[in-house]
Amino acid sequence: QADARESLYLVSEYASKYFQNILHKTDQGKAIGLSYFKERGFTEETIKTFNLGYSLDEWQAFTDEALKKGYQLEFLEKTGLTIVKGEKQFDRFKGRVMFPIQSMSGRVLGFGGRILTSDKKAAKYLNSPESDLYHKSKVLYGIFHAKQSIAKEDNCYLVEGYTDVIQFHQRGIKNVVSSSGTALSPEQIRLINRLTKNITVLFDGDAAGLRASLRGIDLILEQGMNVKICTFPAGDDPDSFAKQNTLEEITTYLEDKAQDFIQFKASLLVKEAKNDPIKKAETIRDIVNSIAKIPDRIKTEIYIQECARIMDISESVLFSTLAQITKKET
Ligand code: CTP
Ligand code: MN
Ligand code: MN
Ligand code: MN
Ligand code: MN
Repeated sequence: QADARESLYLVSEYASKYFQNILHKTDQGKAIGLSYFKERGFTEETIKTFNLGYSLDEWQAFTDEALKKGYQLEFLEKTGLTIVKGEKQFDRFKGRVMFPIQSMSGRVLGFGGRILTSDKKAAKYLNSPESDLYHKSKVLYGIFHAKQSIAKEDNCYLVEGYTDVIQFHQRGIKNVVSSSGTALSPEQIRLINRLTKNITVLFDGDAAGLRASLRGIDLILEQGMNVKICTFPAGDDPDSFAKQNTLEEITTYLEDKAQDFIQFKASLLVKEAKNDPIKKAETIRDIVNSIAKIPDRIKTEIYIQECARIMDISESVLFSTLAQITKKET
C-alpha cells in the first residue's frame, strides 16, 4: 500500500519534470507553451518556481516516454495521466499548459491543464481525477509556496484560480492559495487554519453566483476564523488586476476594498432585498444563520449590533432569531 502510493508520487514527479522539459527544451513547447505563459506576463523565474510545463498536442507522447523510462502502466493509469481504452493508451493532457499541484511539503499530487485554443467544446481546464494521491478537497493550489508567508503575514488570500495565485506571487504577494474552482472544503480550511486565523477571499469580478459562494464561507466561520471579502472590477480577476497594477496599487486596493464578511453579506443582501418585506425577512434569517456559525459569543454580539444597523432592524429581533437557530441546531 505504502509502496503503491510511493509509486504514484514517483510517476507524478516524473511527469512534472517531463512537462517542464517539453516546455523549455522542445520547439513545440517553446513556440506554444512558453510563449503562452510569457504573453500572460509570467517571467522565466515564475514559470520555474511553479514548475509550469507543457504537454504535447499528440495522442500518447507522454505515455510512450514514461513507459520507455520504466514507469508501469498501472500507476500511469491510477494517477490519471494515462487513459487506457482496451489495447490503446492516451495522454489525458494533450496540447495543454500544465500546472502541477503540490502538497504542503512540495510533492506533486496532480495537475491542472489549460487548453490554449478557444475551442468552446473542450473544458478550459482539465484536472487530474481523484486518486490515492490526489483528493481535490484536501489540497490547495499554491500552499507549498505560500505557507511561510501566510504564517508571517498572519493572513491568507484565497483566490479562484491557478493563474491568480501565480500572478500575485510574482507581484510579491505570496500568501495566496486557490481552491481551484471547487467549493471550499472543511479540510482545505483546516490547512489554512493551522497557519493563520485570517482569510481574505478574493472573488473574480464576474463572480457567477456570488451569493452561492458566500454560503460556503460559513464553513470558515465555523472554524472560528475571521473572514474578509474583496471583489474586483467587472471583467477582472486577481490575475488580470495584478498584471495591470503595481504592487503598491494592488496592496492599496486590497486594503481599501477588503470588507468584513458579515458586513459585506449584510450590505449585499439588503441591497438585493430593497423594500420587499418577504425578501428582507429571508435575508435576515440568512445573515443570522451565518452569525450563528461563529463560535465566539463576543463576536456574535458585535455582529448582531452591526447587522441591526446595516439592515435597519432591531437588535432584539436579531437576537431572538439567533436563539431560534442555535436552539434548532443543538
Ligand atoms: N476551473 C476548472 N475547470 C474549468 C474552469 C475552471 O477546473 N473548466 C478551475 C480552475 O482551477 C480555474 C478556476 O476554476 O483556475 C477559476 O476559473 P476561471 O476564473 O474561469 O479561470 P481563471 O483561473 O481565471 O483562468 P484563465 O485566466 O486562464 O482563464
Ligand atoms: Mn485516500
Ligand atoms: Mn471565474
Ligand atoms: Mn478567473
Ligand atoms: Mn483569469
